Amino acid sequence: MSETFQVSPGGVLTGELSVPGDKSISHRAAILSGLSDGDCRIENFLSSEDCVNTLKAMANLGVTYTVTRGTVDAPIDMVISGKGGQLLAPKAPLDCGNSGTGMRLLAGVLAAQSFDSELIGDESLSGRPMGRIMTPLQEMGAQIDAAGEKAGCAPLKITGGQLTPIDYTLPMASAQVKSAVLLAGLFAPGTTVVHQPATTRDHTERLFHAYGIDCQTEGNTITLEGLQAVKACDLIVPGDISSAAFWIVAAACSPGAKLKITNVGLNPTRTAIVDVIERMGARIEREVISSEGEPLGHLTIYGSELTGTEILPEEVPNLIDEVPILAVAGALASGRTVIRNAHELRVKETDRIDTVVKNLRTMGVDVDEFEDGLEIPGGQHFTGATVQSYGDHRIAMAFAIAGLLAKEGETTVENTACVNTSYPSFRDHLSKFQNA
Ligand code: S3P
Repeated sequence: MSETFQVSPGGVLTGELSVPGDKSISHRAAILSGLSDGDCRIENFLSSEDCVNTLKAMANLGVTYTVTRGTVDAPIDMVISGKGGQLLAPKAPLDCGNSGTGMRLLAGVLAAQSFDSELIGDESLSGRPMGRIMTPLQEMGAQIDAAGEKAGCAPLKITGGQLTPIDYTLPMASAQVKSAVLLAGLFAPGTTVVHQPATTRDHTERLFHAYGIDCQTEGNTITLEGLQAVKACDLIVPGDISSAAFWIVAAACSPGAKLKITNVGLNPTRTAIVDVIERMGARIEREVISSEGEPLGHLTIYGSELTGTEILPEEVPNLIDEVPILAVAGALASGRTVIRNAHELRVKETDRIDTVVKNLRTMGVDVDEFEDGLEIPGGQHFTGATVQSYGDHRIAMAFAIAGLLAKEGETTVENTACVNTSYPSFRDHLSKFQNA
């Protein structure tokens, strides 16, 4: 039988919590460490299916890693031994599972190798658009064939070869596309330039610096000289703010709650969720521990009655993964919450506009759906119900929180094994609050 979450309303959102390592940073740490010229000690790696698939893909390209905490299949602390750019041809297709980030970033690297490779994924990933990375990579000279049943979708068959640099304007605000081009640019002699229509998460650029790669950011333009050495470095991966977001909202929507989330990443290209929840009326204290590289700190959230808000277009890329849980906050807040300019939600692990709207309605919440987002008249409440995850980790977790915040009735979230892609300990954390 598939896994479910059974959630009763209530629970005390008080105490302290730390969430697992950041997903975006863990993917990049696995790739860049594998490309580096030596041993990289990586601590607090997100040992979830998505990131372990990327790590295993690097291992299938000849990279080795020695686990010092966790297991080979679920490493938390490890030493990844880089191959100095000398990757080996994989013996089988590289399986990215559910992860768009893994597939798109690896494609950037693989396009530039002297061997052929194939990237495959699960049913959801095999329906997600890969044309967005194929277009710039092909312009750089890459040979990539999208061999999926759906046009422009995985499996990706890559014939490795020499790339040339590119000056590319992203048609959409996507850190994955930006990063695929920058990783490919590392192997192209000359200057690669990427212009973004809006600021997106800048982990690739920050990690490039950590691995000794010089790249310049001016406004929304990133410039990189190719053929730089990737230097081995040690990293501690901060907690994932996108995982923390479930608890930020749960606490913020519970008047009287006081929850401290420790050692979480506070990269300003990821913290719009904190700004928005504050704007909706919650008090959130930020304690910055370190602002070097990837900023890190503690957040203390004080619950209160929230007020609805309108998300600004420039905020959307910065909280794109948090929209499902933000919609939960919007339903409970007084006044309307408006999330528009978010077409990108339609091409995530599920069409998240559709799946959020369906689950809100199943739990008794009124919502208007638009092609690019949703509007929620506030001042509503959740009634416990049986909802689907649709195989999407963030939908499963957002609606478990809706169940916790429900006015009445038990909630069952069906098909919840998908949370293992980003937050394997979510179930434990949920039961900790549920039974408090
Ligand atoms: C990610 C970028 C975002 C985000 C995803 C992780 C990354 O995707 O939704 O969860 O690590 O670069 P897009 O680049 O498609 O916006």
